Amino acid sequence: MVIINNNSEDAEFDEILERDFTSVFRHGYITVEGVTMPKRFEDLKNNIRNWNVREDDVWICSFPKTGTTWTQEMVWMIMNNLDVVGGQANLGHRSPFLEVSALFDYREFKKENKDFQPPPFIDDSLEFVKHQSLKGPLCLKTHLPWALLPKEIQDNTKSPKIIYVTRNPKDTCISYFNHSRLMEGYRGNFEDYCRLFLAGKLPFAPFWNHVLPFWERRNHPNILFLKYEEMVKDLPAIIRKVADFLEKPLSDDQVEVLSSHLSFESMKKNPAVNYEMVVSLNRKYNLIHCEGSFMRSGKVGDYKAKMSPEVICKFDEWTKEHTEGLDLFD
Ligand code: A3P
Repeated sequence: MVIINNNSEDAEFDEILERDFTSVFRHGYITVEGVTMPKRFEDLKNNIRNWNVREDDVWICSFPKTGTTWTQEMVWMIMNNLDVVGGQANLGHRSPFLEVSALFDYREFKKENKDFQPPPFIDDSLEFVKHQSLKGPLCLKTHLPWALLPKEIQDNTKSPKIIYVTRNPKDTCISYFNHSRLMEGYRGNFEDYCRLFLAGKLPFAPFWNHVLPFWERRNHPNILFLKYEEMVKDLPAIIRKVADFLEKPLSDDQVEVLSSHLSFESMKKNPAVNYEMVVSLNRKYNLIHCEGSFMRSGKVGDYKAKMSPEVICKFDEWTKEHTEGLDLFD
């Protein structure tokens, strides 16, 4: 594992990551532009930096567990005239995840297990995106923060539509904990996980370095900034907002149909979006030993049942420190 330490606390976090968050497909972590990333990102970062951005692709950007899948399904449906038949294809095909190969580095495991075949959109995600691009405009998913996006986006040479979604960090942390155990092989406890979250030592963290650069750009004409909590509160209103932003306005009937399609209950049982395929693959090959599901609770305020008052207090202080004077989260 590559360990880059500046102080003893960093060294402790690196130890936790190595002990509890490495696996046959996760070989360690690096820091790129201040962002914690799985080691495999090293091989992808220059290709992404020099990515040939297309104006007519839609980028769905987010920190993990903030409502990305929900937003992707909404955007794909709006861009594809509510094509429920086409929508039965896996979301990973329809709305590819640019850097996902960095998270699941199965190369060694594949050599030793010849019958193991991860889905192509995970196996070599950059190639997959290039291949899908030949077919037309894409609804592209990325968890990369602003600083790691393609140069053409950062310097405004290209300005595709970007939809950023965020969520309050306490619920995000609970959801990320579940996800890291279920999908990415985290074996440690929740307390250590919260410390890693606050210290910015999880993939794509620090959280605020992720959210704030998009928040600062929220009034740019090509950027739409969404909040998970507002989607839960009034989904039809957000659907209308997104459809108008995408210049694909919907009728009232279409908004109603799409709201029902995007309800938590409907998405939980929709195999095209609930990631059960990846969960089953990891279980089948004994790579992950953990119960649960990707579509977990879909609630606001779920942290209250799981976080101790001390941890809540730490999160609140940390949030205040980073968002003082901003109308971002309550
Ligand atoms: P929970 O783990 O809190 O349930 P992402 O797609 O960014 O990984 O985010 C996943 C989170 O969004 C999960 O949160 C998941 O349940 C929630 N989610 C997905 N679809 C949803 C929906 N239709 N309504 C509410 N929450 C949804």
